[in-house]
Amino acid sequence: MANTPTQPRDLTRFFRTLSDETRLRVLRLLAREELTVNELATITQLAQPRISNHLKILREEDLLAERRDGSWRHYRVEPTNLPELARTIWPSLKVAWDNDPRFQADDKRLAEVLISRHPVGNGSFFDQLANQWDTLRDVLYGENLGRVVLRSLLPPDLTVADIGTGTGYVLHLFGNRAGRLIAVDNSEAMLNVAREKARAAGLDNVEFKLADVTTAPPLEPQSADVITIIQVLHHLPDPREALANAAAGLKPGGVLIVSDFLEHQQTWLRDRLHHKWLGFTRTKTSQWFSDLRLDFSHWEVLPGRTHEWEGQRLMVPDAFIAVARLPKG
Ligand SMILES: C[S@@+](CC[C@H](N)C(=O)[O-])C[C@H]1O[C@@H](n2cnc3c(N)ncnc32)[C@H](O)[C@@H]1O
Repeated sequence: MANTPTQPRDLTRFFRTLSDETRLRVLRLLAREELTVNELATITQLAQPRISNHLKILREEDLLAERRDGSWRHYRVEPTNLPELARTIWPSLKVAWDNDPRFQADDKRLAEVLISRHPVGNGSFFDQLANQWDTLRDVLYGENLGRVVLRSLLPPDLTVADIGTGTGYVLHLFGNRAGRLIAVDNSEAMLNVAREKARAAGLDNVEFKLADVTTAPPLEPQSADVITIIQVLHHLPDPREALANAAAGLKPGGVLIVSDFLEHQQTWLRDRLHHKWLGFTRTKTSQWFSDLRLDFSHWEVLPGRTHEWEGQRLMVPDAFIAVARLPKG
């Protein structure tokens, strides 16, 4: 895998390479698992010469890595090792095909191919499958399974309010397991997307509310068992005031869950994403909670990572989850 195509002629060729459904299917499969031409032909149900031809075109754009094992050639895509242009658009491709049901048949046949590599009955089926199990479990069960397992531990009939819900990420964590979900945002556009996603997911327990958490409490007093405010505070002029407004909706014994970035120096977040605050410290968060007479009950840090955006490698800072409870008495 080598240089970035920079000439217009190269760009045209690059996008022509991608504008073919079979090549997209092949790329997607090879990003999930290393496969031979034979296996790709089985999964896509296309003739081997056609697959070979598509592989040749993808290879010419440096999109494939190749390994020889005797007379076999194994192909794969290494997303972090792609030419720069491909790496830049890779997240968009991933989103598109992760949400496209047309690829599900490929996933099913990929699982069959992986299983057929290790026929049951040789006494070491799972030993041999260990290196592929994560791919296979993803194909078989998807990422949602873990959420559903954890969600089943929740008491039913909780009232959960998500402040600054955006497109409603938190709503889907609780799903129909919650008795009542209240989604608050001051952006009508965000609420419209959240509404559409909730409808598509069959959530019938969500109330959407257009409100500004900085000006007044958005919830009825003492109405929610859980209030989440996820990646919102850094946008607000007075995060403490907003937290007070949000927390006014907690029932006694209710839980407030805050997530934001830890204090950092990543000014690109201010310049590009309009963050008003470059994160917050644990001490500051703890102070907010004690001002609101909430008991600080849990703190966890999610490590930051680098992210490629518009050709630049950017640092995403560490984030935190802080949980506090309103005492019962
Ligand atoms: C970075 S997004 C996070 C969305 C969501 N919580 C998530 O984690 O995906 C911040 C959200 O807060 C909303 N927001 C910003 N200021 C707000 C305010 N004053 N009152 C209510 N919502 C606000 C924005 O419209 C946006 O949807």
